[in-house]
Amino acid sequence: MYSPKVLEHFHNPHNPGEIEDADGVGEVGNPQCGDMMRITIKVKDGILEDIRWKTLGCGAAIATSSVMTDLAKGKTLKEALALTRDNVAEALDGLPPAKMHCSNLATDGLRAAIEDYMEKHPEEVLD
Ligand code: FES
Repeated sequence: MYSPKVLEHFHNPHNPGEIEDADGVGEVGNPQCGDMMRITIKVKDGILEDIRWKTLGCGAAIATSSVMTDLAKGKTLKEALALTRDNVAEALDGLPPAKMHCSNLATDGLRAAIEDYMEKHPEEVLD
């Protein structure tokens, strides 16, 4: 039911962990399944220089966290904000319909971390 890409990211996740002196932190959860995700980011010159995740959740949530960091790293904040759950699911060669909500958690967490950064840096303009 899971694509080989999902299993690959689940067994060998990219960018797990936490950035100690993070510029932005996002914490999100899904009230239905109880899964939680914490995203930390480092920003330099408007670019997502580093991004890490800690996920307490299902295998799909781990795989979507991992692939989301691959998609977001090196992007401008504006580009990263434009990432959708469909982008995340496509990068994993699809997710079972019942697991699509797990990819929401990844993009919501990323967005929350960027919003936290923007609140701390109101002078920054996204372009
Ligand atoms: Fe909740 Fe996957 S079952 S994030």
